[in-house]
Amino acid sequence: MANPFTLGVASGEPMPDGVVLWTRLAVDPLNADPLRPGGMAPRAVEVRWQLAEDERFTQGLRQGTLQALPTWAHSVHVRVAGLKPGADYFYRFRAGGNLSPVGRTRTADDPAAARPVRFAIVNCQRYEHGFYTAYRHLAEERPDVVFHVGDYIYESRQAATVVRPLGPVPGEISRLHEYRLRYARYRTDPDLQAAHAAAPWVPTWDDHEVLDNYRGRGDGSAPFLRRRGAAYQAYYENQPLRVRPQDGHLQMYRRRTYGLVADFMVLDVRQHRDAGSMLGAAQEQWLMSRLLTSPVRWRVLVQPLFFARRFVPGPPPNLRPDSWDGHQAERARILAASASGLVVFSGDVHNFWAGELKADFLDPASATVGVEFVGSSISSRPPQTDGPAVLAANPHLKFFDDRRGYLSCVAGPDELRVAVRAVDFVDRRGAPIRTVAEFLTKGDGLTSENTSSK
Ligand SMILES: [Fe+2]
Repeated sequence: MANPFTLGVASGEPMPDGVVLWTRLAVDPLNADPLRPGGMAPRAVEVRWQLAEDERFTQGLRQGTLQALPTWAHSVHVRVAGLKPGADYFYRFRAGGNLSPVGRTRTADDPAAARPVRFAIVNCQRYEHGFYTAYRHLAEERPDVVFHVGDYIYESRQAATVVRPLGPVPGEISRLHEYRLRYARYRTDPDLQAAHAAAPWVPTWDDHEVLDNYRGRGDGSAPFLRRRGAAYQAYYENQPLRVRPQDGHLQMYRRRTYGLVADFMVLDVRQHRDAGSMLGAAQEQWLMSRLLTSPVRWRVLVQPLFFARRFVPGPPPNLRPDSWDGHQAERARILAASASGLVVFSGDVHNFWAGELKADFLDPASATVGVEFVGSSISSRPPQTDGPAVLAANPHLKFFDDRRGYLSCVAGPDELRVAVRAVDFVDRRGAPIRTVAEFLTKGDGLTSENTSSK
């Protein structure tokens, strides 16, 4: 067999005692034959996995074999349990006489630990818009965990002007084999592969993993639900998730806890949405009960959409209905439920923002009840945005920057630090990375340090 590890390796869903290991076999990743995704013949392939405490696989070796099945596009999801908390591990795969690259992963901290957790927030990586240089730099940081807050792929037709072409099937995608091929295109990128191999990921999705701006069951038609089901299946096949889709659904909202320090509540703002609700009743109830009872220092919402009020001066609509400004009552319930230490991370808008969450956004004198940091994009182009005008119209928003990059964060028992890490260009390789702003919070307001906003 030719090298089947062209899409790299990944790990994810860290718990104190285990992680999920992932790969997807693809001897010819851009093969567009619907019956042979990744160029793989339609039969099962045996895959051996290994995990150890050292990169040479001599300490604490664990291993096993499983079958990569054509039903799941030859993806492999290994749930390894019985590991030590807060510990590094290394893993690799073997198939058809080929050895994969080695990945590094890490379990979550012991529930009683108060150790700081180092994490990154990434999102929005439209392939043809630019190179994933930011991921190369992120890989070097080797955080404890990476959270992806959506737009891992774009289902859209290839942009009119491209930095690099999508290759076969550049049109809008809607069928299972097309979603699979689009993921394969993205995952062939060496910088993305490096970031996956450097740390475990916990991804959630936004709209472009299925269809621009879709909500819930869309128009409820059979063709849309078929399309959504195909997109969800391909998402699972290409991410290191613990659970697989069933009957067209995929359980995405979940909690990942790091000791006594951080409770990461990963939200799904798409699958359960309807006209009246961003999260749906069951997810909101789940979130509320955890916000009220969590004994952990930082309650961290990890989700795609701008959470604070953002009034954009100029012609209406001045508030974006697709984001939390379109669900103000639900947002107010969440803000009222969180006792202290609320931090929201978001993406979607392709620019960096930071701000304070207010008990009443229309009253600057009202209590500050949390902070929000909005990741820019890894490569996706930003819309035309008058940052200074928006800042002036929203006193609770404190920072804007229009470069590409990610957020590099440390949550400790006393404080949370967020560094805005940016590259100056993505239209060619090799951009250096810089910290363009750094923020600190102790649980109420936001302090900025070393800020050199553009
Ligand atoms: Fe995006």
